[in-house]
Amino acid sequence: MGVVASAPAKVILFGEHFVVYGEPAVVLAIDRRAYAKAETRSDKRLHVRSANLNLSGYFENGYFKVEQGDAKEAVMKFEPVRFAVEKVFEKLGSRQGLDIEINSMVPVAAGLGSSAAVVVAVTSAVSALLDAKLSKEDVFRIAFQAEKIVHGTPSGIDPATSTFGGALIFQMDTGFKPLEVKMEIPLVIGDTGVGRSTRFQVEKVRDIKERYPQVIDPVMHAAREIVLRAIEALKKNDLETLGDLMNINHALLYAVGVSDESLEWLVNAARKAGALGSKLTGAGGGGCMIALARNEKLENVLESIQRAGGRPFIAKKTDDGVRIEQS
Ligand code: MEV
Repeated sequence: MGVVASAPAKVILFGEHFVVYGEPAVVLAIDRRAYAKAETRSDKRLHVRSANLNLSGYFENGYFKVEQGDAKEAVMKFEPVRFAVEKVFEKLGSRQGLDIEINSMVPVAAGLGSSAAVVVAVTSAVSALLDAKLSKEDVFRIAFQAEKIVHGTPSGIDPATSTFGGALIFQMDTGFKPLEVKMEIPLVIGDTGVGRSTRFQVEKVRDIKERYPQVIDPVMHAAREIVLRAIEALKKNDLETLGDLMNINHALLYAVGVSDESLEWLVNAARKAGALGSKLTGAGGGGCMIALARNEKLENVLESIQRAGGRPFIAKKTDDGVRIEQS
């Protein structure tokens, strides 16, 4: 039987990258989820299979043995899973052979927090299976530590959103605060299909910030101002202001070097098709962009992004963070 847990992907509406330096960001959990099933085994192995990545293998006595797919890729993808499972064992004070089956509906390496959604779902499924009694905060903390293996110095935004769901304001020093958003936020997400590494993009910004501090500091300040105004606009259901702020935010991200040609095509295509605003979301350098549009324009924007070579889908906010689907 086993336990199935799921966790949502996220989009950053405002503030990515600048958040790493203490500025606030606004994030939304969206209705694309990663699923993880955990079952006990009679041996001591930790067996992991990802249906969507076509990878499988097992950890035993400190070694990894691949069964399906490329060994290097499999160990890289599964290491955060192993780490999270170890943390649950630590909490329990005992170990157990496990089968973990991952099935994610979240585009990978696209800025939507796919790796965090997977680790959050796995941690929660294993905790529920073994009755480790982890709180959501515990799940978040474990997933955050696991994320550091993949992304270097992440802000924690991805595991927080996957764990808690809804809309969040996030800031490094104060953590995350739920943001009550009653309005619908009609978004089209466009995947460029260009893969990139969050770690590399974060390092790129660090480098430019170190080389040109007097130039980049005002950019960071402008990013903060955008987030503060966006929070007000979200409270007032003011879609037009949100659209303007998205466009300005994108320009700042372009300035710090994290946009690329594939993103520029899609961002411009969305604007031409009548989006109120559009920007890259997440780490950039490929990955995904988002466009905000009135409901009657969503289809136009979607088609336009598709014609420009992107893979678009319409996304809605979800208030459901990590949850047990079957136990
Ligand atoms: C990645 O989804 C968002 C970044 O701001 C990095 C982070 O916050 O960890 C680029």
